[in-house]
This record gives sequence, C-alpha cells and structure tokens, in this order.
Amino acid sequence: MVPSPQYVLVTGATGFIGAHVVDQLLSRGIRVRGATRSLAKGDAMLQARPQHADKLDFVQINDFDEINEGEESSLFDEAVKGVDGIIHTASPLTYNTTNNEKELIIPAIAGVRAILTAASRSPTVRRVVLTSSFASVMDVTRTAPGAPYFTYKATDWNPLTYAESADPATSAVIAYRGSKKFAELAAWDFVRDRAPGFDIATLCPPMTFGPVVHPVASVDKLNESNAMLWKVASGATPLPVARVPFWVDVRDVAQAHVEALLRPEAGGKRFLPAAPERFSYGLAAKIVEDEFAWAKGRVSVEEQVIDESHGVDGETTARELGLKYRSFKQTVTELVAQAAQMKGAGL
Ligand SMILES: NC(=O)c1ccc[n+]([C@@H]2O[C@H](COP(=O)([O-])OP(=O)(O)OC[C@H]3O[C@@H](n4cnc5c(N)ncnc54)[C@H](OP(=O)(O)O)[C@@H]3O)[C@@H](O)[C@H]2O)c1
Repeated sequence: MVPSPQYVLVTGATGFIGAHVVDQLLSRGIRVRGATRSLAKGDAMLQARPQHADKLDFVQINDFDEINEGEESSLFDEAVKGVDGIIHTASPLTYNTTNNEKELIIPAIAGVRAILTAASRSPTVRRVVLTSSFASVMDVTRTAPGAPYFTYKATDWNPLTYAESADPATSAVIAYRGSKKFAELAAWDFVRDRAPGFDIATLCPPMTFGPVVHPVASVDKLNESNAMLWKVASGATPLPVARVPFWVDVRDVAQAHVEALLRPEAGGKRFLPAAPERFSYGLAAKIVEDEFAWAKGRVSVEEQVIDESHGVDGETTARELGLKYRSFKQTVTELVAQAAQMKGAGL
C-alpha cells in the first residue's frame, strides 16, 4: 500500500482556498510547504501560526506569466523537492483584466503544466490534487428559458471553446471559465500522454465563500468571491445577481482537497463539492440584516428569484470524500462578522 503523504506542497498557499488547505493539512499533523510569489505573504502566514513553525515553510516561485509558450518549465522544480504530495490551488482569479488571454488563460494552463512537469521529475510525488472549478463544468446552453430540468454532475464539461474564451471581445468572466476548463484539460491530457509516476484528482467547486485565514491587508482586499458578500453587507444597491445559484463553504472545499489527496480511491477522479442549498445575494442580504444589528436599514433587502431550473449533485462528492456541507447562513454570518471586525469602527 502507498504510504500517506507526509510533506505536501500547496501552491496558492497564501490565497483564500489555499490557506484553508494549509491549515487542514497542519491540523492532521502533515508537514506543509507553501508556494507563493511573495515571501512577505508567506512570512505573514508563518507569524499567524507560531505553533506550526516546525511544520510549515514557504518557497518563492515566479509568476506563471513568465513561462514561455511550449516551454518545459522548471518553475516548480525546487518547490517539489522532498514532498510526496501536491495540492495545486494557484491560478489567476480576477475580473480586473486588460488582456484576458494573457492574464487569465495562458498563465492558468502554464501553471498546471509546470506543476505536473515538476511532479513528473520527482521520484516521491504520488498524487497531485488540482483546484479546477464549476466554471469547467457549467454549460450555459442548457439553462436557456424553457429547457428541461437537469442536474450537473462531476462528469459534465463546459462546451466553451478556446477561441470563444480567448476572444478579445468577450468578458473576463467567460475568459476565466475558459482558463479553468483548459487548465484542467491540460492536466488530464498530461497524465494520459505521459503516464507519470503519480495520479491526479480534480475539484470543481462553485462560488466559494467563508471566513478567511490568509493574510488580508484590509477588507477592501478580500478575495473575489467574498468581496461580493461584503459588498452586499455594505449596502450595495441594486444587489449583484448570482451567475449560478450554487456555492460551497471554503472549509468544506479545503477538506475535500485534503481527502482527495489522502484517500487512495480518489485518484483519477473529478469531484464536485457543492452545498445542497441554492443561494442568491438577496438571500445573503436577508441573513446579514437578520444577524447584525448594524446592518438593519443599511443592506438592500431585495427579493431575488433563485434559479431552480437545474440542480447540482454535490452529494456524490460528499459521500465519496466524507463531507458534511455547512449552511449558507453559517458561512455568510461568519465571513461578515470577520469582515465587519476588519472594518472596525468605520462601520
Ligand atoms: N473563490 C472561489 O469562489 C473559487 C471557486 C471555484 C474555484 N476556485 C479556484 O480556487 C483556486 C484558488 O482561488 P482563491 O479563491 O483562493 O483565489 P485567491 O485568493 O486569488 O488565490 C489564488 C492564488 O493563486 C496564486 N496566483 C494567482 N495568479 C497567479 C499567477 N499568475 N502566477 C502564480 N501564482 C498565481 C496567488 O498566490 P501568491 O500571490 O501567493 O503567489 C493567489 O494567492 C483557483 O484555482 C480558483 O480558480 C475559486
């Protein structure tokens, strides 16, 4: 039997999801190396975890946009030395772009190829878990008005073409969906074509919300998904409209990554961790108004119709990886309480 990983490289370790993955590995006594472009953020992570000083270290890596097209990148060669498992969460996640293909799609794919290339040169890595996204599962053509009800499964793929996602006339949202789809496909192609000494598992979470454990300088610097909830709590009007009604708590996503790394039977599989409840920002606003005295009369409480024309099967993944999904109320309340504290007297 292959031994359980003892020392795991987490890329994107100073990001929203990556930092939770780091904490869940550490809480199980597993040694962690975090990869980051900024060792200052790595130091902030270390300072916040003095109890894990002997089990956590950071390595600096270059930006994925420095990888030349077609290059067998050595970007992660130092980072993988001595580790026996990898969780790759790093990928550009921003909608504030000037060149979608250059800033989102090319680096996402290059990052996946670089981590798998480094893993294939390592004699010790047995599994690589990759954070894909529901963006690589969803199919907007199935949700047209009047279309029959269906349930998304982990085996579904977004039909978006590379050309559509890289079209300079398209939005950063569509380009991000392409970045996730083509980065994940690059991973499956890599293991099929090269038959390396490790297997992979991929995770396709929808909107991921929840408290932060990574370094965040101020509430204005929250990660993209949580920033939307804080916008709602801060009184945005009209409320933003959710592009998909599916979501999951960041701690459940992190647990899913760790289980996908540790469970032997998870190798070669694709997982879709998603809470059973649907969400809207209207629902989030209502929760914030009910739970926080400061929010009364401040949040814009609007009835938003929640799209129930299709569903998502998060239960198969919950069963396979031993998850119990948190409720939307708990997730919203805990993130907003934390963000309000960061904002402090400015409320
Ligand atoms: N949040 C969501 O709702 C959601 C939902 C589904 C899937 N995902 C996926 O989950 C993963 C983590 O997302 P997150 O929400 O945790 O975002 P995040 O807080 O922005 O973290 C992403 C991390 O990736 C690294 N990164 C970004 N661009 C990079 C580049 N060009 N080169 C090298 N490293 C880069 C950064 O690490 P450093 O700055 O430390 O280098 C950053 O901390 C991503 O793969 C994302 O697509 C997120």
